[in-house]
Amino acid sequence: LSDILVDRFGRRHNYLRISLTERCNLRCQYCMPADGVDLTPSSKLLSQAELERVAKLFVSAGVNKIRLTGGEPTIRPDIEEICSFLRALPGLKTLAMTTNGIVLGRKLSKLRDAGLDSLNISLDTLVPAKFEFMTRRKGHSKVMEAIDAALEMGYNPLKINCVIMRGFNEDEICDFVELTREKAINVRFIEFMPFDGNVWNDKKLVSFLEIKHLVERQFPSLRRLNDHASETAKNFSIEGFKGTLSFITSMTEHFCAGCNRLRLLADGNFKVCLFGPSEVSLRDAIRSGADDNALRELINAAVKRKKAAHAGMFELAKTPNRPMIHIGG
Ligand code: GTP
Ligand code: 5AD
Ligand code: SF4
Repeated sequence: LSDILVDRFGRRHNYLRISLTERCNLRCQYCMPADGVDLTPSSKLLSQAELERVAKLFVSAGVNKIRLTGGEPTIRPDIEEICSFLRALPGLKTLAMTTNGIVLGRKLSKLRDAGLDSLNISLDTLVPAKFEFMTRRKGHSKVMEAIDAALEMGYNPLKINCVIMRGFNEDEICDFVELTREKAINVRFIEFMPFDGNVWNDKKLVSFLEIKHLVERQFPSLRRLNDHASETAKNFSIEGFKGTLSFITSMTEHFCAGCNRLRLLADGNFKVCLFGPSEVSLRDAIRSGADDNALRELINAAVKRKKAAHAGMFELAKTPNRPMIHIGG
């Protein structure tokens, strides 16, 4: 891994999250502000060629895992071409995607053929009416079907991302756990995080420990598994269950010390941390003629500015960032 991807704390960044679009076919309340967001004009979004150039540069510097995010990555018309290009980059081990699953059913076999290795699907409720409330759109059954289709296609582990919000879905935690009895899925309970426009407050946050205690009461054989050093998730199993459970504890027990993640946004901004407004435009550099060395210098300088950890949930809730829809998680 090249020095440009190592920060002042010795963290080695081999995982790049690329947001492919700011658009989405859902309007989830924790992600998309109620009155919508300003969309970057398309002339200011990275073109497919620019995106591929930047991705290639990151992989040549040591990135071996790319996750495609959004907005919603599957709505991009050139998604299969992008996957094929990235999959063919020498050195890339994992091509992953995080998706809401709405149009996944009809795109899945092409994505698999294009080399998509790994899938995380967002699902916050098992109740269709609550799905409509949270996402401000219909489509619950499509997501459920996409999950089964992905399982049948052999995506394993298939991760299900479930953001828990008090008053919305904390009553469904054990139902989600039940899903892992027969399905070989990894259900991940995620602490609600603050982003611009998502009306976060700590009353809505259900902490890792609270969820874990709730699960343990009903499933006493819950056991901690080993995690990889730079994982976002703390992993658990329940005796006899085909699937597993995890917790993403960004708010109450951050995992910044092991962070290996960098972000490229759809507008070409490079973001070294999910939180923190500091971004640098690789698009502007490219369009003013920067060669790869100049891009590497920009990337290096930004990585070296990365902080040891995020500022803590109350500080984050007060600090301007971007709406989640622009960042992609
Ligand atoms: P894997 O690669 O399968 O481990 O997935 P992932 O957790 O890296 O990515 P995913 O897109 O599925 O994100 C799941 C949750 O973790 C979302 O709520 C993300 O916002 C959050 N997340 C992902 N990366 C980071 C990170 O670097 N820091 C923090 N605090 N949260 C993150
Ligand atoms: N807090 C925690 N997780 C979130 N996600 C989106 N917004 C938030 C938030 N405010 C999750 C989505 C998706 C992943 C990329 O990030 O559920 O699975
Ligand atoms: Fe890494 Fe920032 Fe996430 Fe912490 S909050 S794990 S430093 S991206």
